[in-house]
Amino acid sequence: MSEAGHANGKITSVLSEQRVFLPPPDFQKKAHVSSLDAYSKLRAHAADSETYWAAEARERLSWFQDFDQVLKWQAPFAQWFVGGKINASYNCLDRHVEAGRGDKTALIWEGEPGETRRYTYSQLLEEVCRCAQAIKQLDITKGDRVTIYMPLIPEMLIAVLACARIGAPHSVVFGGFSAEALASRNNDAQAKLMITADGGYRRGNIVPLKENVDAALPHSPSVKNVLVVKRSGHIDRSTWHQERDHDWHEMLAAQEPFCPAEPLDSEHPLFILYTSGSTGKPKGILHTTAGYLLGATSSFHYIFDHREEDIFWCTADLGWITGHTYVAYGPLANGATVLMYEGAPNAPDPSRFWKIIERHKVSILYTAPTAIRAFIKWGDEHIDGHDLSSLRLLGSVGEPINPEAWTWYHSKIGGGRCPIVDTWWQTETGSIMISPLPGATPTIPGTATRPFFGIDVDVVDKHGVSVPDNTGGFLVIKKPWPSMLRNIYGDPERYEHTYWSHIPGMYFTGDGARRDSHGNFWIMGRIDDVLNVAGHRLSTMEIESALVSHPAVAEAAVVGKPDEIKGESICCFVTLEAKTQPSELLKQELRQHVAEQIGALARPDEVRFSDSLPKTRSGKIMRRLLRDIAAQRSSVGDMTTLEDFGVLERLRAEDEENA
Ligand code: WTA
Repeated sequence: MSEAGHANGKITSVLSEQRVFLPPPDFQKKAHVSSLDAYSKLRAHAADSETYWAAEARERLSWFQDFDQVLKWQAPFAQWFVGGKINASYNCLDRHVEAGRGDKTALIWEGEPGETRRYTYSQLLEEVCRCAQAIKQLDITKGDRVTIYMPLIPEMLIAVLACARIGAPHSVVFGGFSAEALASRNNDAQAKLMITADGGYRRGNIVPLKENVDAALPHSPSVKNVLVVKRSGHIDRSTWHQERDHDWHEMLAAQEPFCPAEPLDSEHPLFILYTSGSTGKPKGILHTTAGYLLGATSSFHYIFDHREEDIFWCTADLGWITGHTYVAYGPLANGATVLMYEGAPNAPDPSRFWKIIERHKVSILYTAPTAIRAFIKWGDEHIDGHDLSSLRLLGSVGEPINPEAWTWYHSKIGGGRCPIVDTWWQTETGSIMISPLPGATPTIPGTATRPFFGIDVDVVDKHGVSVPDNTGGFLVIKKPWPSMLRNIYGDPERYEHTYWSHIPGMYFTGDGARRDSHGNFWIMGRIDDVLNVAGHRLSTMEIESALVSHPAVAEAAVVGKPDEIKGESICCFVTLEAKTQPSELLKQELRQHVAEQIGALARPDEVRFSDSLPKTRSGKIMRRLLRDIAAQRSSVGDMTTLEDFGVLERLRAEDEENA
C-alpha cells in the first residue's frame, strides 16, 4: 500500500508542513510536564503499562475498594482493575466536596438565548442526588439503561451523573438525531427510561425533542417512562401522556438532596454511545466505569495541563464522546470549572464564542477544525475587539486540522502565546491517544504528534508489520489500555470482527497515518466507508439504506466530497426506479427523507441521479471512482441530468480487456 490516505483518495492536505512551534517558555515553566526530556522519561516509565496504569489509578481516582488485578486480558476482551469498587459520580462530585472544595464553581452554563447559570460542586452534587432519587422512583435500578436525549443544558450533565451514581448505564443520543434514529437506539439498548426536554435552542429555532420522543416511543416499547425538563416551553402539558411522562422539576423538588453513590465493580457498564461504522446499523460502543474514568481523568490532567484556576471550555455536545470525556467525566473528576454553551457559534452572530470567552475568562478552549474553518470564513472582524487574553491553551479534535486552520487558530485566537494540542482519539478509545503535551512537545501544524503515556500506537501494513518512517499505513494500537471500549453492546462478534480481525492481535482504528522521523503521527483520515462531516462520524451505508428505503430509489451510493468548511460533504449517486422521473423536487424530497431517517446532520449536500452505478465485475460499487467524480466535477448546469456512467463502464471494460 502506498500513502494510506491516497488509497481511497481522501487525503485532504499535502503533508509537507515543516514549521515547528516550541512550547512557549512562560507556559512551560508552570506545566505539569515541562520538557521533552521529562515527557520521554515518563513515557519510558509508562512502557510497563500495567504498572503505570495501576499507579495512575490509585493516584487519580478514589476507590471504595482497591483492585487486586490490573488487567485481565482474554483477547480481545479486557477487564481492568479487577476486584475494585468505584463510582464515577462520586469521583466527579463527592470527593471534591469532602476535600473542602464544595464552593468551587463546577459549571458555568450559558443558554443560547443568553441566560447564565452557575453551579458549585456542592450544588451540582445536590441536584445529581435529587435526579438519582427521582430516576430510582421511576423504577430504574443498577444495570437498567437510560436514554438521554436533551439540549446542552445543566440538566443534561446532571442526568448523566445521576445515572452513573446508581449504576444505570446511560445512552446519550445527540439532540440532532431524528425520531427514527432514537427509536432504533432505544431498542438496541432496551432502554427503560428516557430523559428529555420539551425543546432546545439552535440558531434561534426550537429543536422539537419531546415531539421526537413521542414519535419514537410507539416504536421502542422497552421505554416505560419519560422524564421531561421544561426548557423551551413551546408545548402544552396537555399533550403529555399522563401515565408515561413525568415533570423533572416537580419530581426533583420532591426529593431529598442525598443519594449514596453505589459502589460498583470496576467493569460495571458506565455508558453506551452509538457511533457509525462502515457497515450496518450504528454500533453501541460500551464503556465501563474504572478504566474509562481513569483514561478521562489522566488525559485531562496532562494534556490540558489542568490547573485549579482554569476555566475549561470544550465546545462539544454531551451527545458525542468528546462531550462525555471532556465536558463531563475528565474535567469534573479533576475538580475543574467547566463552561458549557447550549447553542450555535453564530447565534445570534458569529462573535458568540469570543463574547463567551471574554465574559467568563475561559483559559482553555477545545474545539473542532470545522468550527475553526467556519470562523475563518466568517471573518476576523467578529473576533477583533474581544479580549481573549484569558486563554492559555487551545485544543483541536475530531478531524485532521489543516495547517492553514492551525496557524490561524494559533495566531488569531491564541495570540501566538497559546500552545495547541491536536488530539487524536475515537469514541472507541474513550480518551485521547495521540497528542502533544503542551509544555513539552514541539508542535507542527497538522500532526497530533506523539502517543500519550501508556499507549502503544503504531503504523503497520496489512500483515501487522511496522512500516518505515514517512510511509503510509494503518494506524493501530498494540496493547490494551484502560479506557478502551469493552464491546459493541449486545454484539461481541461484531466487536471482534470490526476491531480485532483486520490485523490479528492489534486494535484497528480505521484511520490511515504515517509517522515521521521525529516520531510524530500524521493522521490521514478514514480508510473505510466512514465519513467525517463537520467532525461527525457518518456511515455511507447508513445513508444509502435511508435512501433506498424511499420508494423512488432503486440503488444508491454515497461518498464524501472534500468541503472547505466541513472537511467532507455528503454526495449521493442515486438510480431511480423505472418510470420515476428525475426532478429537482425529488432531490429535495430525498434529502429530506434522509434527514428524517437519521437526522439533520446526515442530510445530503448533493444528490445526483444516474442511470446506473459503476461496479466491479463482482458487483461492488466502485466508490473510489465516485469519490473522484464527486471531487472533480462541480455540479453546474442542469442539476437533474442523469450521469452517464455507461462511459465509465466501457472504459473499465477496455481496461480489463487490456489487462
Ligand atoms: C477522526 C472523536 C485527525 C479520526 C473524538 C477518528 C481525527 C475519528 C482527530 C473518530 C485528529 C479524531 N486528527 N483525525 N485530531 N480526532 N479524528 O469517534 O478519523 O467521533 O477515527 O471521536 O475522527 O471520531 P469520533
